[in-house]
Amino acid sequence: MNIHSKSNAPVLDSYWMPFTANRQFKAAPRLFTAAKGMHYTTDDGRRVLDGTAGLWCVNAGHGREQITRAVEHQLATLDYAPSFQMGHPIAFDFAERLAALAPGSQDNKLDRVFFTGSGSESVDTALKIAVAYQRAIGQGTRTRLIGRERGYHGVGFGGITVGGLVNNRRVFPQLPGADHLRHTHDLERNAFTRGQPEHGADLADDLERLVVLHGAETIAACIVEPVAGSTGVLLPPKGYLQRLRDICTKHGILLIFDEVITGFGRLGAPFAADYFGVTPDLVTTAKGLTNGAIPMGAVFASRTVHDALMNGPEAAIELFHGYTYSGHPAACAAGLATLDIYEQEGLLTRASRLESQWHEAIHSLAGLPKVIDIRTIGLVAGIELASRPDAAGTRAYEVFVKCFEKGLLIRVTGDIIALSPPLIVEEDQIGEIVSVLGDVLRQVS
Ligand SMILES: Cc1ncc(COP(=O)(O)O)c(C=O)c1O
Repeated sequence: MNIHSKSNAPVLDSYWMPFTANRQFKAAPRLFTAAKGMHYTTDDGRRVLDGTAGLWCVNAGHGREQITRAVEHQLATLDYAPSFQMGHPIAFDFAERLAALAPGSQDNKLDRVFFTGSGSESVDTALKIAVAYQRAIGQGTRTRLIGRERGYHGVGFGGITVGGLVNNRRVFPQLPGADHLRHTHDLERNAFTRGQPEHGADLADDLERLVVLHGAETIAACIVEPVAGSTGVLLPPKGYLQRLRDICTKHGILLIFDEVITGFGRLGAPFAADYFGVTPDLVTTAKGLTNGAIPMGAVFASRTVHDALMNGPEAAIELFHGYTYSGHPAACAAGLATLDIYEQEGLLTRASRLESQWHEAIHSLAGLPKVIDIRTIGLVAGIELASRPDAAGTRAYEVFVKCFEKGLLIRVTGDIIALSPPLIVEEDQIGEIVSVLGDVLRQVS
């Protein structure tokens, strides 16, 4: 079947694609039909190097047979079982394995795990747990949620409420009472940084401003991405996250790290909480949890948060929340096999071994036309381009299409290029990413 031909146009019509310019895409589709290791294969048989781990999720690379076999076996054994007032062993097994790896310090591990089906569900779950926790400890007036400008927390109503990307918000109503910290992106003072920027720890004090404005007794939780990914790779200034932690503790506000992207080795430690040495109260995850193979998310909660909700009569359901697919057996099987691979291949810390080479390679693009900033941390890079007058986003989009044509998958948001290859990336492939991207950047006007 030739999917490009006009006669086959209806084949493309029915699928309403997410976060896509549907009409533009369908006029000139880009289709992957297979993937293995670091590469995709297109419908016309070309190999494309994956510079983005799919959508920040395929941390162990594509087509991992261990995962395939585990899922096959699970589907053949127990395809589905309800998780409401019923259980199945593999969900408990997976939660125990995750608890052992959980973010947090030795004496404060976030080792209570609530399963969801995606990052968006993890975010809404964490926000609801935070509000329920406050009520359980007698702080029922604390219902306000604080996010941050330029934050991305998925697309549920909770997530867009605390999120800070205007296009995701402008059409939709949001939960009442929420507010936002200022973002930490400061090109004037922090351009071309490797690792954490020097300037901006004081931006955490914005939370104090919101406490003064609203009253601490109205605020349930503050959620941030330790490293903001989808908004274009924004890094936390040195000291910023610890300061946010201190302010939250001082005012009884729960701190939530959204680690949907940073969880499972992206920065060179299992979680960003470990990498930065700052322990939040709740951590949201998804993506790398199952290597992207089966949709799944997980919220990690501290015992303090969890135990506060384990009160009341034993026969009472403690949290009126959950999903049909919470703890789905096939997803748990994929997750367990994924953890095995991470462990066997040392992938959760591999980014730390590649980081300096990654910094060097990516920063070699500095000085190319229109590049106004490059920022790198772990195995993540953001390359910011100057926008064309009156045509924001078109330059980076052109770079994206040209890279795809030359066999490299990158991700763009506005005029920022984001790179986050699978954690199995080899040094020569980092070289290839930089070489293709450099060629394209030289071509695009
Ligand atoms: C930080 C963060 N939170 C939440 C989400 C939403 O995840 P999902 O698309 O699985 O709902 C994403 C997705 O990119 C994300 O980057």
